[in-house]
Amino acid sequence: MPGDGIGVEVTREAVTTLETIARRFGHEFEFETRLIGGAAIDTVGVPLPEETLQTCLASDAVFLGAVGGPQYDSLPPRLKPETGLLGLRAGLGVYANLRPAFLHEPLIGASPLKPEIVRGTDLLIVRELAGGAYFGQPREISEERGLNTIVYTAPEVERVARVAFELARGRRRKLTSVDKANVLESSQLWRKVVTALAAEYPDVTLEHGYVDSCAMALVTRPTSYDVIVTENLFGDILSDEAAVLTGSLGMLPSASIGGKVALYEPVHGSAPDIAGKGIANPFGAIASCAMLLRYTCKLEREAAALEEALSATLAAGFGTPDLKSQPRQVTTTEIGAEIRQRIESM
Ligand code: IPM
Ligand code: MN
Repeated sequence: MPGDGIGVEVTREAVTTLETIARRFGHEFEFETRLIGGAAIDTVGVPLPEETLQTCLASDAVFLGAVGGPQYDSLPPRLKPETGLLGLRAGLGVYANLRPAFLHEPLIGASPLKPEIVRGTDLLIVRELAGGAYFGQPREISEERGLNTIVYTAPEVERVARVAFELARGRRRKLTSVDKANVLESSQLWRKVVTALAAEYPDVTLEHGYVDSCAMALVTRPTSYDVIVTENLFGDILSDEAAVLTGSLGMLPSASIGGKVALYEPVHGSAPDIAGKGIANPFGAIASCAMLLRYTCKLEREAAALEEALSATLAAGFGTPDLKSQPRQVTTTEIGAEIRQRIESM
């Protein structure tokens, strides 16, 4: 689902790159395209048509570009593009959102942080995606009052923490659980459940941190993190912050897992200001395809090949305008073509 704005441009590159992977490694992928977000509102009047959700549920994996745009800001909440995305996440039942922030060495100059601080950053944020403030009831808005609620149950915390522990096992075996347990009851429960689960993972080092101090540490000592697990809203905020470390929000891929069908999307939004200009950064979208190959298709070799081609393209100096430090400034499609040509010649 291309969705809106630059979502359309980066999805085109993502799909074409998957087709190249299929050709090169002897697979066949079947693609269906459906409407979501503003594109769906414009065409059928709702941000998540039932037919779109049903098609997603009948698929092996879902890829999404981005949703949103200023022209939809004044719509009532249930008709906003973002509501379509939240409905999709809920409809698929995905509860663990994996957002890796990896600094490719060639982009060290694109990061606003000093090289000595940011060099070697390789962390993974596991954001809880199905609960917390995004879905808490009651919620209401009137002229005088806006109300949202953060609710977490023990099973909701445990299932996402389990995903994080398992992923930490495959990495550097360090897990940081981020909460606001000094103030919030929902965080106190979160901390208790994560601590109890740690008994099952003696090989993983668990530390707890408050979200405010984590926000600071992410930009002062990012390399001290391996896997971070946190609730929905904190994860939303911290993952945008982590993206900055890597040089651009456009670099970040994501996978949302745990439900009936997994959802893959770049972390960036629809960027209406640059939409249609051919300058959107497709790296995050294409890297999301590597996650799709890895987690849904279980094609590790293909995922690694795609990531290698992506790294090599960066190392060769190619970049979009958001990656100012890259000497070879090219278009969205040219980046895609560079990556694909490297896959073909592997
Ligand atoms: C994200 C986005 C979404 C979120 C919006 C568009 C609803 O910011 O994927 O991080 O807040 O989850
Ligand atoms: Mn966000």
